Amino acid sequence: MTPDQIQLLNTSWQMLRRVANETTGRFYERLFEVDPDTRRLFENTEMPVQQTKLARALETIVRSAGDAEGMASRLRAMGARHTGYGVDGSHYYSFASAMLWTLEQRLGEAWTPEMRDAWTAAIAGAVGAMMAGSSPAAA
Ligand code: HEM
Repeated sequence: MTPDQIQLLNTSWQMLRRVANETTGRFYERLFEVDPDTRRLFENTEMPVQQTKLARALETIVRSAGDAEGMASRLRAMGARHTGYGVDGSHYYSFASAMLWTLEQRLGEAWTPEMRDAWTAAIAGAVGAMMAGSSPAAA
C-alpha cells in the first residue's frame, strides 16, 4: 500500500470509528443478503459481540496497514481459526464485496475512487493472508 492509501484508510476510519459497531452490524446484514450460505456459520454467535470483534479487527488492519509483514502472521493464524469455523474461499469473496458496499454506504460523498482502491487493497491483503493461513500447505 502507498503512503497516500494508508492516509486515506486512516481518514475514513476516523469518520467511522464512533459508529464502528453499527457499521459492522450493517455489514453482517449485507453479507447475509449477498451470500445467505454464510448465515449458518453464525447460528450460535452472539452477533453484537461479533460486531465489536470485527470492528476491532478492522481498526487493527487500518492501524497496521504500513506493516504488512507484521500483520501477516496474525492474519494467517486468524485464517486457520476461520477454517475451523467452516469458512471457505467463496465466503471471503462475499465478505470483501459486502464490506466494500457497506463502507461506500456509510461514507457517502467521502467515498472517492481513491478511497475505494485503498480499502480494496487493505481487504485483499488481509483476506490473502487469512486464506494463506487456511491452506493445508501453510499448516
Ligand atoms: C478480513 C476478513 C475477516 C476478518 C478481519 C474477520 C475477523 C474475525 C474476528 C476478529 C473473529 C473473532 C474470533 C477470531 O479472531 O478467530 C472472527 C470470528 C468469526 N468469523 Fe471472521 N473475519 C473475517 C472473515 C470472515 C469470513 C469471510 C467469514 C465467513 C463468511 C467469517 C466468519 C466468522 C465466524 C463464523 C466466526 C466465529 C464467530 C463465533 O465466535 O461464533 N469471517 N472473525
